[in-house]
Formats: sequence, structure tokens, C-alpha cells
Amino acid sequence: MKAYEIIEIIENFAPKELAIVGDNVGLQVGDNLDKEVNKLGIALDPSLNVIKKAKKEGVDFLFTHHPILKNPIKNFTGIMYEKLKILMENDIILYSAHTNLDICKDGLNDALAELYKLKDVENLYENGLGRVGIFEGSFEELLDITKKYIVESPVVVGNIDGDNFKLAVLSGYGLSQDAIRYVAEKADVYLSGDLTHHSKILAEELGLVVVDGTHYGTEVYGLRKFMDYLKDMVDCEVVSLDF
Ligand SMILES: [Fe+2]
Repeated sequence: MKAYEIIEIIENFAPKELAIVGDNVGLQVGDNLDKEVNKLGIALDPSLNVIKKAKKEGVDFLFTHHPILKNPIKNFTGIMYEKLKILMENDIILYSAHTNLDICKDGLNDALAELYKLKDVENLYENGLGRVGIFEGSFEELLDITKKYIVESPVVVGNIDGDNFKLAVLSGYGLSQDAIRYVAEKADVYLSGDLTHHSKILAEELGLVVVDGTHYGTEVYGLRKFMDYLKDMVDCEVVSLDF
């Protein structure tokens, strides 16, 4: 299967236009999209380990959720040099779908909304990030689902009695202080990743119950589903490299 055909499948699922302003999505490294792809690698991060593994496993096309660069850099030295060297010497295409994969239908946020069987689901943010809806079980049940599918021991701030509360979910880094302030107005409980000490204190002060399912856990859950989708759609071998 040609690289451009794989890109078409990815972009039909997660259109690039959905990405938030300033995000770096799409082709990251590569030139020849006519290239035949026999092995598609999927990873959360284009880390040095993942790139080395892609080489070792003979991956032709590496799909990652996180892009290779968030902010512009001025030189290619050290680890970045090593990453590019391996990708280029082995002619591995690197392609990322980041916030467009979080936002799109059946993407990483919808996967979380579905896992918790949220009712009356709405987008958490106007740009399409996150979901909020009614969780019909108890807080204990929410934690059981989290431990089974997201992360073994989530960090929990606060507690809530009874069933049927408003749950907000956001895949990845969602527990900044700004986000806590915003979500406290929209939901009773908030599941996301990357809780800091100051965010924890703020959540306690605002009475928002927070479940930190980790950045990795809240994203890999949906990424596995996306990988299953790609397996059905592409005509080549598909392997996961960091989950
Ligand atoms: Fe992320």
C-alpha cells in the first residue's frame, strides 16, 4: 500500500482542519509519498526509543499521536539529530495526528465518552476538545472503569456521593490550573492527565473532583481503538511501538 493512501485513510478519520490553531499535525518527516508501505508502526510519541524500534522492526511508515516538535527549534543536534538521522537513513515516513485525532468523531475524546457511557454528551470546549455528559453510575464504579481500562492506580482528588453526576473527560494534558477553573463550572468530576500540585490544590478549593488517569492512559485507550480501525482499513502489517 502506498504511503499517500495511508495518509488519506488517516485524514478521512481525523481531518487536519480539526486541529487546534498552532498545532503541528500531518507529515512530519518524509518526502516520497509514493513509497510502498509494508509495515505501519503506531505510537503515542516519536521518542528516540520508538524511532529505534521502528527501524529495528522494519517499519516504513510511523504514525504518532504527538508531533515531533511542538515549538520551533533552531538547530538539529543531539537527540533530534539522532531521530532525524534514523528516520532519513531508513526512509521512514513520520506522520502525526494530534488534536485532530483528539477532537474528531470516534477519536480519543469520543473513546473516553464511550468508555464511561456518558449520556447527553457535549463538547467540553468550543474548539471540540474534551467531552462532558452524565455518568450514570457511582464514583466507585467510575474508578473501577478507570483502573481497568485507563491506569491501574489513578490519582484521585475528592469524592462524590450518589449516582448520576456530570463527568468531563479530556485525553492527554488537561489538568492545568486554567482547565481546572474552566471545568469546575461545567462538571462535578473531571478525568484527564498531568495533574500538578497547584492544580490539585485549586481543584480542592473549587470543589471539583479530579481523576488523573495520566496523559498516557487517557490517550492510549483511544489510540488502541484507532489502531484497530487502521488494521481494518490498511493493506499492510500494523504494529504498536509504545503501548
Ligand atoms: Fe497528548
